[in-house]
Amino acid sequence: HKRIGILTSGGDCPGLNCVIRSVVNHAKLTYDWEVLGIPYATQGLLERQTIPLNMHGWDLRGIDPLLNMGGTILGSINKGNTLACADEILAGYQALGLDALIAIGGDGSLKIIHELATLGNWNLVAIPKTIDHDVALTERSIGFDTAVNTIVDAINRLTFTASSHDRVMIVEVMGRTAGHLALHAGIAGGADIILIPEVAYTIQGLCDHLAQLRDRWHRKFAIVVVAEGAMAGLDDTGSYNCGLQGSDPAAAVTPKCGRGQYIAEKIASCSHNLVDTRVSVLGHIQRGGIPSALDRLTATVFGKAAIDLIAQEKYDKMLAWQNGQVVNVPIQDVVDKSPSPVDPHGYLVQSACALGIYVGEQV
Ligand code: F6P
Repeated sequence: HKRIGILTSGGDCPGLNCVIRSVVNHAKLTYDWEVLGIPYATQGLLERQTIPLNMHGWDLRGIDPLLNMGGTILGSINKGNTLACADEILAGYQALGLDALIAIGGDGSLKIIHELATLGNWNLVAIPKTIDHDVALTERSIGFDTAVNTIVDAINRLTFTASSHDRVMIVEVMGRTAGHLALHAGIAGGADIILIPEVAYTIQGLCDHLAQLRDRWHRKFAIVVVAEGAMAGLDDTGSYNCGLQGSDPAAAVTPKCGRGQYIAEKIASCSHNLVDTRVSVLGHIQRGGIPSALDRLTATVFGKAAIDLIAQEKYDKMLAWQNGQVVNVPIQDVVDKSPSPVDPHGYLVQSACALGIYVGEQV
């Protein structure tokens, strides 16, 4: 018999509850193990709180709400000062009498929990989740696919209104320091311009592209997708950049700078206010919603694999998707290589450019 703890850490995303469901079902059905939910990540360990998770009890006439509920029933925290309370967290873990812990988190949380696990000698298995898609060594992380679909849906809607009013619609998307969300959703949604932190662009380049769309292709509207971490234009020497000058790369690590608004102002000025722009900041809408089929599948398979790793007593591993297979990788390697950016010379950036999307100057 084993007692397994499970927690969700960092920003929520669709698919977390699918992992919980899969872990509980596989632990009970195959091994008859007990699974305890730890509320609010390390906060729950610190306060020694648990939520009993049963296969039966959270289903309603056979309908399992965990499969399609966004968010996390365990709650989560996104705080940076966890290590300051390391002693109490380690004591809490000890007091709960856990044989192993499954942590579902992004690169930031995994780093902290891995450090705690090393200090406390925990039996830790990690599962990658993030809408930013920047956890290294895995081709899939829970939440990303749903977020891409949410953005594509928003772009579809914005395209109709943009074309009706001959406007340039600027869509600012999340992703923190990485441009995966913007790149994937921009290509899938039919964007004309995609600006990401990993590729430098110029204001002149994007204005020329808009002019070309209008003059050569007679397109009266355009869709611009901007990652929240995108840098200022290379040729911008102005001061609008959250206080940072021009193309200072430090700007790329400062999210929530209103990159969409910045681009709108630059387009207005280079077009001498002839282009009508509107900005949509999608914000936390990208984090909510019903998990996509792909996220459910990945979550379900990762949850099952986590329990199997514990059965084999393989710890300090993160489940990963590589070449169509579920594998496990040392958490330390993941921490060392994360956050993982978009490859500016990779196939997606190259394809976008080949298809006439302006992605920047250095491709
Ligand atoms: O890491 C996920 C993410 O949604 C980022 O894309 C975004 O920058 C950040 O979290 C937002 O964090 P918060 O929920 O704390 O505002």
